[in-house]
Amino acid sequence: MKTIGVLTSGGDSPGMNAAFRAVVRTATAENFEVVAFRHGYKGLIEGNFKKVGPADVSNIIQRGGTVLKSARCDEFRTPEGRAKAAEILKDEGIECLIVIGGDGSFQGGTLLANEHDISVIGIPATIDNDLVGSDETIGYDTALNTAMDAIDKIRDTADAHDRLFLVEVMGRDAGFIALETGIAGGAELILLPESMTNIDEVRTSLNNVLKEQRRSSLVVVAEGDETGGALKLSEKLRDDFSKYEMRVCILGHVQRGGGPTARDRVLASRLGFAAVNAIKDGHTKVMVGIVNNSIKLTPLKMTFGKKKDINFELVELSKILR
Ligand code: ADP
Ligand code: F6P
Repeated sequence: MKTIGVLTSGGDSPGMNAAFRAVVRTATAENFEVVAFRHGYKGLIEGNFKKVGPADVSNIIQRGGTVLKSARCDEFRTPEGRAKAAEILKDEGIECLIVIGGDGSFQGGTLLANEHDISVIGIPATIDNDLVGSDETIGYDTALNTAMDAIDKIRDTADAHDRLFLVEVMGRDAGFIALETGIAGGAELILLPESMTNIDEVRTSLNNVLKEQRRSSLVVVAEGDETGGALKLSEKLRDDFSKYEMRVCILGHVQRGGGPTARDRVLASRLGFAAVNAIKDGHTKVMVGIVNNSIKLTPLKMTFGKKKDINFELVELSKILR
């Protein structure tokens, strides 16, 4: 009987539990055993694991966070750390490891696979949606809706006082959340890491928007934007826009929490199922993703160090609609 290892790693995202559940239930249907590691690669190195079955994943599909816990583990970045991890896997007879995480986790997983001949399969889970090989990553849709809800609420109070709000959303290197929440929330201006906007361009665009006498204005800023995020941006704008009451709201980690949306639950369920099938079919060092509504396998090494493009048609749309 084949034994599969599974862990969640890096920044958590809503839907990781649904993916874990799908892995366990699909593996059981295939007669595979599943060993779950707690705290990502840290738990793998420390041998913090438990055999799990279908009943262990009951009542988790709707829960945010990750019941397996996650971690960032510096030891795993070293060859010695990965050798310890490989030893644990070999001792437990685990030939295949499913890693539910983001590009950093896949980079680590690729090294483990290359150095120790262990089959590694990735399931893309990050709210940032910045992984090539899947149209969407697990947790992105939930984060979008959380940020959009917050923006709607901010708009209410902004409107009551005719204020200018700078709202910062997550995305250290990627503007997917900013772009789509900006459009969905009717933002007057959206600042993304991908479309490097210098402060003079921001001043000009904002002046144009405010000239049109809107009653309230909302700027959505990705945390990784060139201007340095909403707080720094407010300092740079304060003098030129002193006649407007400006407020800053940083949404932060609230975007990472909460129960997954239906779309994320379904995505996670499909990807968990696909990961086990990939193992069954003898694949290794691949990430399972969904592209144009079909399962697609992408070599794991293509998923990191490569930037996923944002949709520039949406950028143009946002400029017309603002
Ligand atoms: P994410 O998977 O969400 O991108 P991180 O970038 O924090 O999150 O990566 C999660 C973990 O993956 C790290 O704490 C580390 O253990 C491992 N990892 C990341 N990058 C590497 C790397 N270059 N080499 C080895 N392990 C890595
Ligand atoms: O999960 C991705 C992400 O939310 C990024 O957008 C953000 O920069 C980062 O994680 C922050 O993570 P942490 O606070 O866990 O370091």
